[in-house]
Amino acid sequence: MNYKSRIAGVGGYVPENVFKNTDLEKMLDTSDEWIVQRTGIEQRHWVSKEQSTSDLALKATEEALADAGIDKSEIDMIVFATLSPDHDFPGAGCFLQAKLGLSNIPAFDIRQQCSGFIYAMSMADQYLRCGTYKNILVIGAEIHSKGLDKTPNGRGVSVLFGDGAGAVILQRTEVKDPSKDGHILVSHLHADGKYAKELWLPAPGTGFPVDSRINEQMLAEGAHYASMNGKTVFVHATKRMAETLLNSCKEVGVELSDIDLFLFHQANLRINSKVAEILGIPEEKVFNTIQKYGNTTAATIPLGMRDAVKAGALKRGMLVASAAFGSGFTWGSSIYRY
Ligand code: COA
Repeated sequence: MNYKSRIAGVGGYVPENVFKNTDLEKMLDTSDEWIVQRTGIEQRHWVSKEQSTSDLALKATEEALADAGIDKSEIDMIVFATLSPDHDFPGAGCFLQAKLGLSNIPAFDIRQQCSGFIYAMSMADQYLRCGTYKNILVIGAEIHSKGLDKTPNGRGVSVLFGDGAGAVILQRTEVKDPSKDGHILVSHLHADGKYAKELWLPAPGTGFPVDSRINEQMLAEGAHYASMNGKTVFVHATKRMAETLLNSCKEVGVELSDIDLFLFHQANLRINSKVAEILGIPEEKVFNTIQKYGNTTAATIPLGMRDAVKAGALKRGMLVASAAFGSGFTWGSSIYRY
């Protein structure tokens, strides 16, 4: 059988509490003007203390299941992309599985940060195309707000990130008319570990020459907060996202002008504008959500997909391209007919 996979349903969730840039001004010694000008972000959603990452994922999953019109018992596997799991181990996929009341099916986490969803979707695609499974739940979910330095020391990073979850049901399909039927055409995945420390969260970790994963000195130095060389990330992100998109298009004989909608990772509005400029993509074909959600890392692409469907910007049969870049460095792209 010549199986492909298609997006049968999509769902998303962001917590209720909204933090506008002006709410961060006192806390972080920043300004609405700086944040909007440099990033495009106007607000983000942050969880209440009772919520965990798998709680957000559960809500997104429920919406995706309803959209796909399948019961949770039909899920064959859970692939959960996150850098902010409920606990160090086991993975958030296992916690979500229990909350869904499922057992036996495989559940695992993907730790590819901002590229997590592209990696997760590509891995699920392999299992569907070879016929092993019929329906795979692919999640991207993050709670950043519980791990941000909310003092002026953290302002370079903490203004960027929001909490949220997005989910898709990826379903095995047989494509009769590739110009109309939903399916993933291609995914490309990449990494370059020599840049691992340009955007990372060092502690807790075993990479320190001490006998514990975290100690008071690490806490005092803020090694438990993410640190980033923003300019390096910016330069590599624009270059790599453009490059991987072109390569994906080339492999399947698609012109950039054939793509109806671009759902990019949401790290910075200026990154996405620059990628569009490099590739000559009209801005109106790029669907952005960073203004209202900030960077929700693994969740940005499925959340954007959910919002684009709700806004009527994404309809069945449209050709979509996604690309992401993030910590690792990791990056990738995917072209799919929705
Ligand atoms: N509010 C106000 N001022 C801030 C600030 C904030 N939140 N954060 C940094 N600044 C200050 C800096 O201290 C610096 O001040 P100085 O000139 O007096 O030294 C100035 O603003 C410029 O800082 P810089 O870091 O050079 O800004 P930038 O133009 O590179 O923009 C980013 C910073 C983070 C917005 C930008 O580099 C970026 O988006 N990079 C990519 C990030 C990314 O994609 N991360 C997620 C990975 S997927």
